[in-house]
Amino acid sequence: MTSPAVVLQPLFRRAPTLLKPPVLRTVRYFGVSSVMSEKLKPAARVAGRRQDVWSIINEAAAASPKQPIVNMGQGFFGYNPPEFILNAAKQALDRVECNQYSPTKGRPRLRQAIADAYSPFWGRKMDPETEVTITTGANEGMLSAFMAFIEPGDEVIIFEPFFDQYISNIEMPGGKIVYVPMHPPKEGGSKTLSASEWTIDFDELERAITPRTKMLVINTPHNPVGKVYSKEELQKIADLCLKNQIIILSDEVYDRLFYVPFTRIATLSPEVEKITITVGSAGKNFYATGWRVGWLMGPAELIQYVAAAHTRICYSSVSPLQEACAIGFEQAEEQGFWDDCVRDMQAKMSRFNAIWDELGIPYSEPEGGYFVMANLSKVTLPRDYPFPPHVAERPRDFKLAWFLIQEFGVAAIPPTEFYTEENAHIAQDYLRFAVCKPDDVLEMAKERLRGLKRYIQE
Ligand SMILES: Cc1ncc(COP(=O)(O)O)c(C=O)c1O
Repeated sequence: MTSPAVVLQPLFRRAPTLLKPPVLRTVRYFGVSSVMSEKLKPAARVAGRRQDVWSIINEAAAASPKQPIVNMGQGFFGYNPPEFILNAAKQALDRVECNQYSPTKGRPRLRQAIADAYSPFWGRKMDPETEVTITTGANEGMLSAFMAFIEPGDEVIIFEPFFDQYISNIEMPGGKIVYVPMHPPKEGGSKTLSASEWTIDFDELERAITPRTKMLVINTPHNPVGKVYSKEELQKIADLCLKNQIIILSDEVYDRLFYVPFTRIATLSPEVEKITITVGSAGKNFYATGWRVGWLMGPAELIQYVAAAHTRICYSSVSPLQEACAIGFEQAEEQGFWDDCVRDMQAKMSRFNAIWDELGIPYSEPEGGYFVMANLSKVTLPRDYPFPPHVAERPRDFKLAWFLIQEFGVAAIPPTEFYTEENAHIAQDYLRFAVCKPDDVLEMAKERLRGLKRYIQE
């Protein structure tokens, strides 16, 4: 019998003559220019040409003379989940079965807990076996949904500003994104108005629909605008989707943080429910964005394919933290946790937004979620300010963000990153601040932002 080494040897020896010498050329990969073999070149889907907003902001923060930076940019919590959920996670780690693979659709206890928690909103008993599937965060859930339904060339409608991960999630299976902008209130630069004043032009939305439109993504409560879509707006969107048989992907990761009545689009009618997949996130619900537990709910006919895609992508999700989230859902109501969430976040919103009222800077009063968009059109940036070239070439909000980090040590996110270039001008005077931070951090941010006074023109 020939030994494996003998079989392999000739191949190894022949290889140099069979292979062409590698082609070397200069490529840009995440903004880094280097000489790379053609074979090592990344696929277009990951080879971003522009520096993304997170690296620009992090780089600016690291370079700022004002240390430590008050980071109100990224939407992670500056405090821990409540004790009853943390304890559940710690106890889960001591259980043998919680440290092993979960079923691909998720742990039965968590699916049951989610079905029980959401059935009252749906007005009927949800089936945890067929209508709920657990994912590795909402983000992987949405990737699974697109992987399940999008063929190359299929179109997906999203509203601007969008959650940035939608883009690659749609493009990976070959989807084509069709953008429809949300329009801010005309007086947004001079008056504080409700985030509800950011509106969709429904004619514009209808014109965006083509025979290839397969899915539409809606996000309510909305990141970054803070809008909670009204029942009437949702009905109009749903009617268009029903008429054109478009699957609705409703991203409701901030569903426990609403300060006005909140409607879930799937609950509008049994017909709408049939075409809707609802997205949830334990990270957002339980202040644990690093746990990476999310879920999708919807009719069995849709969920089965999403669950199949999820199995291909990551097989199953983190077991002990699924168990902890199950206990979180089981106990949240009796612990009064959902009411606490709303009360605490609303208090943080008011605490932080007091600085804008003090400075006379208008903002979109959030109806939900934990982001606020301040309109800084009244802020005059110093002439000849030394912005680095990669910031100077971006819209005004990038310059505002850079300036705030360098001069005051406060990090916020420029929202034009969540627009196409064509529509970026819509949001170039806004900055997004995340208020899910401890109160002393919010106070420090306010104190620093008082320095803006001398740059404000009435
Ligand atoms: C609108 C929206 N959808 C989805 C997500 C992702 O949620 P997860 O952390 O559960 O993946 C985020 C996170 O910031 C978000 O803002």
